[in-house]
Amino acid sequence: MRVLVVGGAGYIGAHMCKMLAESGHEIVVLDNFSTGHKAAVQWGRLEEMALADVGRLDAVFEKYQFDAVMHFAAASIVGESVRDPLKYYENNVSDVISLLRAMQRHRVMRFVFSSTAAVFGEPQSDFIDEQHPRAPINPYGASKLTVERMLMDCVSAYGLSSVALRYFNAAGADPSSLIGESHQPETHLIPKLLRRVAGEDIEVRIFGGDYPTPDGTCIRDYVHVNDLCSAHLLALNRLREMGSPTFEAFNLGNGQGYSVKEIITAVARTTGKKLDLSVDPPRHGDPARLVADGSLAKAALGWMPKYTEIADIIDTAWRWHRQPRY
Ligand code: UFG
Repeated sequence: MRVLVVGGAGYIGAHMCKMLAESGHEIVVLDNFSTGHKAAVQWGRLEEMALADVGRLDAVFEKYQFDAVMHFAAASIVGESVRDPLKYYENNVSDVISLLRAMQRHRVMRFVFSSTAAVFGEPQSDFIDEQHPRAPINPYGASKLTVERMLMDCVSAYGLSSVALRYFNAAGADPSSLIGESHQPETHLIPKLLRRVAGEDIEVRIFGGDYPTPDGTCIRDYVHVNDLCSAHLLALNRLREMGSPTFEAFNLGNGQGYSVKEIITAVARTTGKKLDLSVDPPRHGDPARLVADGSLAKAALGWMPKYTEIADIIDTAWRWHRQPRY
């Protein structure tokens, strides 16, 4: 298929491009490099532009005749979304409307959308499946849920078929180390720890030590970036085989939770360097435990995550962070 990868210069988007190319698909990356990296665009063609530029967007759709579109171009930092919600509604909703309009005009009817565990809000069960109530507690989660709802409405109205993939905690890097995670500033736990171990002057503290968890720190479900991408590839095939228009959503996680302290220990084991971190007050909007029930993705898509051990996920991330290329 010829696939438009919006946000293909970002962390997950770049991994997707590599996997799509290796699977024989043709790729066009659309990115404005607001957070992505030129050096990450190593597969396919590049169109450097913003989604809000409707004229150029039309020209790109006219030029390539896409079979499907994937969207990775969201802003995704929970705390920032609380401070600047309109940025999140502009980037994650308005710009997606602009993209969906272009798809509609050019009759591109397959869409894979990056969604998030943040659509669920405070968890009401230990393992979060697709039936769990959606009640986001921050503008980031709300912006992603808004798009999910729009996609549902687009099924019967325009015949658009889409799959929303709700990531839990994306982590790791491609084992080739050609691409990896590089946010500025970095806010995520694993890359912050590894960059600190690699010698960067990054302050890392444990956000909250009094959570109702066995060791008092937050539990998360870390899932390897390439496993997220393999789910996208399966979703693409599913959309191709789908007889009539549809919207589906799948939770993507390993179903295994690790506390912040367990991650710090695992990082020490991989890198051979122990970090002594102090405990700060909890970060606003952090639920105690977020762990996926990923069984629907496995049953319906045939998804088989390869990186089920946290040590393997951290190992690939460490290979990247020892010598990041960008
Ligand atoms: N943490 C620390 N210290 C740090 C950074 C993080 O203790 O310096 C903790 C957090 O409190 C959290 C865990 O490490 O308990 C993981 O935090 P990350 O920032 O790595 O990831 P989040 O769980 O905050 O974010 C993820 C996704 C978001 C999604 C969110 C849902 O990246 O897209 O889960 O809550 F919205």
